[in-house]
Parts: sequence; structure tokens; C-alpha cells
Amino acid sequence: MPNGIRFFIFGFDMYPPWTTIDEAARLLKSGEVVAIPTETVYGLAGNAFDPNSLAKIFAAKERPTFDPLIVHICDISQMSEVAQNIPEEAYALAKMYWPGPMTLILPKKDIIPDLCTSALPTVAVRFPSHPVAQEIIWKAGVPLAAPSANLFKHVSPTSAEHVANQLAGRISGIVDGGPCAVGVESTIISLVAEVPTVLRPGAVTPEMIEKVLGRVAIKESTSKPGEPMAAPGQMDTHYRPQVPLYYGVVPAGTPLPANAVRIAFGNQKGPIPATLNLSESGNLTEATSNLYAFMHDLDNPQYSLILVDPIPNVGVGMAINDRLKRASIKKI
Ligand code: TXA
Ligand code: MG
Repeated sequence: MPNGIRFFIFGFDMYPPWTTIDEAARLLKSGEVVAIPTETVYGLAGNAFDPNSLAKIFAAKERPTFDPLIVHICDISQMSEVAQNIPEEAYALAKMYWPGPMTLILPKKDIIPDLCTSALPTVAVRFPSHPVAQEIIWKAGVPLAAPSANLFKHVSPTSAEHVANQLAGRISGIVDGGPCAVGVESTIISLVAEVPTVLRPGAVTPEMIEKVLGRVAIKESTSKPGEPMAAPGQMDTHYRPQVPLYYGVVPAGTPLPANAVRIAFGNQKGPIPATLNLSESGNLTEATSNLYAFMHDLDNPQYSLILVDPIPNVGVGMAINDRLKRASIKKI
């Protein structure tokens, strides 16, 4: 659906299906799927114990079933409802960074359907900090499987409007919880690897994990052709907007189309004037929270190319670099 368009039928706003917290919980209990806000990105939630609900999530997103889902809980104690043989390291991390933008990969319990984990023996678990997400999980009475609420391979939504633009008409409801404060998906940490390993960088940085566990490994973020994926979301093209995006320094003298736009960072000089600035002061947290919203804003056919300034690959900047490298065309 194009930006901002609504269908008014007999005076009722039929689309998108804006939903209250209580109605969302009721829909989830009855096996429907509903988009909910979290502090990272909006999620498309369904009962994690119910294969029919899980099938609706995959169908609405057009997501292949080999890409497993994250299970969302609303209390640390709920971790043992979905996972087993939980190592002490999981509790140590949970105590420090839950609720928050961190997902732990743990051995799964049988109660979690294979469809949720793509038949892996492990389950991804997260306790989000967004109060609306917590209330919905609590009122639904079950852990909620929730991938980002976007069509497969599209940019993740950081506002209810972004969700509506991609999924209205495909899902039973959208709960509007305002813009997402963090703005990129959670850090995924495997606790089934020999050494705790970051599979996807996010706002909980390797330094923060090392502080708690004393050690951390980082998985190379993109999979190689023909290689099985450690985190199946690590596909090269995962976060692409429709308008070609180029991330990095543009070589001097490169001819650019007249309707190119530029997402700047800090006070760097670019080949064209800044259209938007992720953070004028060069603050990486601010830049992260703006990233997807800017990508959505400029993903408009009136533009033919989106340029993005290089961002320092430190702290949460590692998450920005990870997403932008996958969003970027390889050559300008
Ligand atoms: O911040 C977030 O994590 C958001 C919000 C909604 O919570 N969710 C999110 O979900 O980003 P999704 O489905 O877009 O990304 C989940 C990632 C996928 O790349 C998937 O491959 C990985 O988690 N994953 C899920 N289960 C896994 C498992 N058992 N082992 C390894 N990776 C797993
Ligand atoms: Mg996603």
C-alpha cells in the first residue's frame, strides 16, 4: 500500500487494522497474528506454541520456513518454558541486559514446534523492554514468536506506519507503540557454540557481553554461497530497499544521477549535499535509531540512488555497518 493511503468504507477506517493491547492479546490467543512494537523494530507476533499461528507469520511475510523465528518472553523465568539445559552464562547475560535488545540461542524444549526453529535443536529467546510488548506477551499468556514485521528481504519497520505500508491486509492487527527507540534488530548471541558467539550485531555490543562473560567471539556476518547459515537471516540481500543504496565512500569523479540522495553522518563531506543526517553530532546511538526510518523515507521511486556516508565500525556502529553492507549494491 502506498504511503499514507487509507480506505474509508462507510466512514470506518478499514485499513490498517489498528488494534488495542487487549484486542491484540485476544487475537493472539485465538491464533491470529498481530504486529507489535518492541524497542528494536516492530515484530509480527503469533503464539510460539501453535504451528498454525507460526504458519500465518511465515505466510504474511512471504518468509521461507528455513529462517527461524525469535520467541519473546516477558520474564526471565519464562526462559525455562522454552529452553532447556540453560547455561549459567544465559542467566548472567539476562540479569544484565534483559529486558532489552538481546536474543539468546539456547537448546530448545520439545514444546516449541519445529516450524518455529526451522527444525533446529535450538531456540532464539528474547525479553523485550518495550512496555507494550511486555503487556501483550503477558496478556496473551504464551511466549510469542515474532520476526520483524516486514515482507521478507525488505527493510525492518521502526514505526506502525512502516508495518502498515508492507503488511496491511495480510495480518489481523497492528498495535501502534510509537517509533522504536533502538532502531535495529537485537544482538543475537549463540550460547550453544563453544565460545559465546555474536551471530548478529545489535545494541548490546561485544564489549558489553565480554564484560559479563569474560569472552566473546564474533561470527562473520555474511554467509558464503552454498554454506549453511549459522543465523539464516545472514543473507546478503536481507535489508535491501527498492531504490539502490550504496554504502561507503564514493570514488572521486563517479558520475551520479540528478535524483540521487544522500544520508549523511556527522560533518563528513560527500559528493552531493546531505538530504538527511543520521546524527549531526556523530552519535552512533542516535544514528541507529534513525537508520531504518531514513531508509524507508528515501525508498521512493522519485529517487534513483541512495548514498550513505561511512559509519565508524565500533560499538553499535557494528550493527549499522552490518545492515548497510547487506543493503548496499556492490558497485556504484
Ligand atoms: O530485535 C529483534 O530481534 C526483532 C524484534 C521483533 O524482536 N526480531 C527480529 O526477528 O529481528 P527476525 O526474524 O527478523 O530475525 C531473527 C533472526 C533471524 O536471522 C534468524 O535466522 C535468527 O534470528 N534465528 C532465529 N532462531 C535461530 C536459531 N535457533 N539459531 C540461530 N539463529 C536463529
Ligand atoms: Mg527480519
